[in-house]
Amino acid sequence: MTARIIDGKEVARSIRKKLKGRIADLADRGVTPGLAAVLVGDDPASETYVTSKAKACRKLGLYSEVIRKPATISQEQLTEIVAGLNRNPQIHGILVQSPLPGHIDELSVTLTISPSKDVDGFHPHSVGLLLLGRPKLRPCTPAGIMELLAYYEVDTAGKEVVVVGRSNIVGKPVAAMLQQKGSAADATVTVAHSRTRNLAEVTRRADILIAAIGRPGTITADMIKDQAVVIDVGVNRVDDPSTEKGYRLVGDVDFEACAEKASLITPVPGGVGPMTIAMLMYNTVTAAENIMAADQDALP
Ligand code: GUN
Repeated sequence: MTARIIDGKEVARSIRKKLKGRIADLADRGVTPGLAAVLVGDDPASETYVTSKAKACRKLGLYSEVIRKPATISQEQLTEIVAGLNRNPQIHGILVQSPLPGHIDELSVTLTISPSKDVDGFHPHSVGLLLLGRPKLRPCTPAGIMELLAYYEVDTAGKEVVVVGRSNIVGKPVAAMLQQKGSAADATVTVAHSRTRNLAEVTRRADILIAAIGRPGTITADMIKDQAVVIDVGVNRVDDPSTEKGYRLVGDVDFEACAEKASLITPVPGGVGPMTIAMLMYNTVTAAENIMAADQDALP
């Protein structure tokens, strides 16, 4: 038995297609959603992500700005840039690409982003609303995972979900989404991490396994249940001199072996990755709609 492969590019396309009507409606009202990405330093992976995000904006007809700053920028200077973007009416979404240099306090920077423009969904305001089951802007990768599960009609209600990884960006928020009361969630969620004892015993319970560890090949076939749904969030660069770039991307899951046992599985690349960017576009359009509605409410 071989698993069906989840096609993240196809699902991302369907999200973008649905956004086009909303973008046209905004255009009729004179609004072009705008995204600003702030990139600090010269981390090559961050450069790739930010370039892809700007390209995705252009393809959909959104406005985008990339603000590049050296790693020596001070906390105050970075905060001032974000404050300027908060005031900028052309910008509806702000993201500060992480990781940031060690001397910058990431949380302080996140706190300066206006919650109405928090398209990463990292601001404590957004995190709080998510935990309360009343999300406005949801973090992109977890929201993308929820879209993948919905597109492939994976029933999550009452299912055992094991999330491996407890990051603020993926593990914690996806666990919050899946345990939420409601039609597309209602799962029984376990969050496993580096200190979990007998990890394989825990992961073997999963009807749906979400791997967000950041270490290649962590999830092997003996760690999954027969017919499990396997979502691989890992994006790891491994050296490969046979490729043009000298590296290739692999996930956290031993794909070949797990695909023999799972019912559905995401590849890397082409699984969760395209969804992250599609959901960023989704959040930017949603933020533009919300800001426009709030501006209208504020009219005398
Ligand atoms: N670094 C890795 N993933 C992300 C993300 O989704 N948003 C931001 N801002 N930085 C990241």
